[in-house]
Amino acid sequence: MPKITYISHAGERAVVEVPVGWSVMEGAIQNDVAGIVAECGGGCACATCHVFVDPLWTDKVGERSAMEQDMLECTATDSTEVSRLSCQIKVTEDLDGLIVELPESQT
Ligand code: FES
Repeated sequence: MPKITYISHAGERAVVEVPVGWSVMEGAIQNDVAGIVAECGGGCACATCHVFVDPLWTDKVGERSAMEQDMLECTATDSTEVSRLSCQIKVTEDLDGLIVELPESQT
């Protein structure tokens, strides 16, 4: 099962196994990783699942959709070129080892 590392804004690492087909957001929520709120439950409608993808992984996680791009303008912590909504990243075997950093605030 792919392992994903979530790094809190304070630098704490949580490494969790996330089933293929889940989203990076679901992996955090189901494993009690703090720092992802996911108010809309994965509907790309709240921007409270914002993460910064490690630059080594940005190609592998794929492109943002137009809707995701719009929502990234509504994040509590300013988005950057490596920002993604974690509910929009589907976990695949290729994402084994993915590292995401969590923003200072999601609300
Ligand atoms: S959970 Fe709401 S946008 Fe990702």
